[in-house]
Amino acid sequence: EIDFFFPHEETLAVIKPDAMGEHKETILAEVEAGGFTVTQMKEMVLSREMAEQFYKEHQSKPFFNQLVDFMCRGPCLMLILSKVNAVEEWRAMMGPTDPAEARNMAANSLRARFAKDILQNSVHGSSDCQHARDKIHLIFGEVDPETGADSQAEMSS
Ligand code: TYD
Repeated sequence: EIDFFFPHEETLAVIKPDAMGEHKETILAEVEAGGFTVTQMKEMVLSREMAEQFYKEHQSKPFFNQLVDFMCRGPCLMLILSKVNAVEEWRAMMGPTDPAEARNMAANSLRARFAKDILQNSVHGSSDCQHARDKIHLIFGEVDPETGADSQAEMSS
């Protein structure tokens, strides 16, 4: 009955290239401790085209090119997280975009602890459910419920 009133949401979480070496395992442990279910996970290096698509909402911003360069610099870990209120809860765990602000406002957040600066800020999370659906589709394609295989993987194999 509870799930009828509080349905699970999915959000897309990304461990960005700056956090993949040192902090990946710690962040994954935090995801689990936060009560999220990881329904899909894959490590990948984004192509320039994929990174541009991923952040297309920001294409007119002065930081867009730097952002795309940074996101392609090395592997990212892509995660679909499922939980009641997943979008908002994952954003809360990440903390504010700028780690200086995060350290003031949310000292325990992932960005307060792991982000280097406003660009290299360790993690991504969808800002709403529509973005979550769009970016999950971009990264994972259509997931086959029988096999768990995704269409992007089939295309590239
Ligand atoms: P944004 O969607 O505003 O933040 P969030 O990741 O918290 O949803 O920005 C997307 C990314 O763009 C952000 O994670 C890092 C980068 N960025 C900069 O490099 N400089 C900036 O001034 C801003 C606002 C963002």
